[in-house]
Amino acid sequence: MTIAHISDLHFGRIAHPRVVSTLVDELNEEDADLVALSGDLTQRAQPAEYESARAMLDALEPPVLVVPGNHDVYPWWRPFKRLRMPLERYKRYVTDDLAPTFETNEVAVLGLTSAHGATIKGGRFGAADRNALRDYFRDVPAERFRVLVVHHQLHPTAIGPISPHPVAQQAQKTLDAATEAGVDLILCGHLHIPAITPLDIIPGEHRIVIASAGTTTSNRYRQPTGPINFYNVVTVEPDAFSVEERRFVPDDDHFVRDSVTRFDRTIGAPRHDGC
Ligand SMILES: [Fe+2]
Ligand SMILES: [Fe+2]
Repeated sequence: MTIAHISDLHFGRIAHPRVVSTLVDELNEEDADLVALSGDLTQRAQPAEYESARAMLDALEPPVLVVPGNHDVYPWWRPFKRLRMPLERYKRYVTDDLAPTFETNEVAVLGLTSAHGATIKGGRFGAADRNALRDYFRDVPAERFRVLVVHHQLHPTAIGPISPHPVAQQAQKTLDAATEAGVDLILCGHLHIPAITPLDIIPGEHRIVIASAGTTTSNRYRQPTGPINFYNVVTVEPDAFSVEERRFVPDDDHFVRDSVTRFDRTIGAPRHDGC
């Protein structure tokens, strides 16, 4: 089964006239089992930006699991709404489910919300998030591949230009809860830098892979490789899984394979196949 992982769309700051339609066509042709969208759908949470995001979600044929990012809360010049009802527009245009789930016989996926009005651009997880995480995965059969989708980082990622970067408040506690819940893969965004980071939580026993996606459609580039849009495709097999990073080629209007990192589902060293 496959999960397409897109992130940081930032409608309002779209990079190329055809990047959104190219992405939608490709994801529909890919026939992914799920599209996981790890937040920042908009640039300033404006209605027109949300309408564009909504149109894109409606055009996608696979099911979509989405969590909000810090750009999806009311902007700073609406302080009352930002503090009192930060995700009101997100709920109106996208979904009011802030802990969405998706399950097949092979995978169990949970999304958690780290974007709040009281934080500036960082995120925060709370006890309720950790309880939701534990409660959800507790009932999942042991053999099922477990995926957590969040916007903000739960662990520092080795990414040159903005390293060290902040992580979400209570990140370690939440990562500990994910470890206890047997999470295999965390899909996140926010940094706008693609990176695959395996964490050997218990060497030889438990590893969590963190896949950070670049900005998939916006011009808010931060990676040192220049202005490139990225998304990931996760393929889950019985004994292994892989994360393929795809980058947009504007002149040809399509995304191409940039690299594939493959992991054994039993603990083992990743095999990195750069392309
Ligand atoms: Fe972002
Ligand atoms: Fe963000």
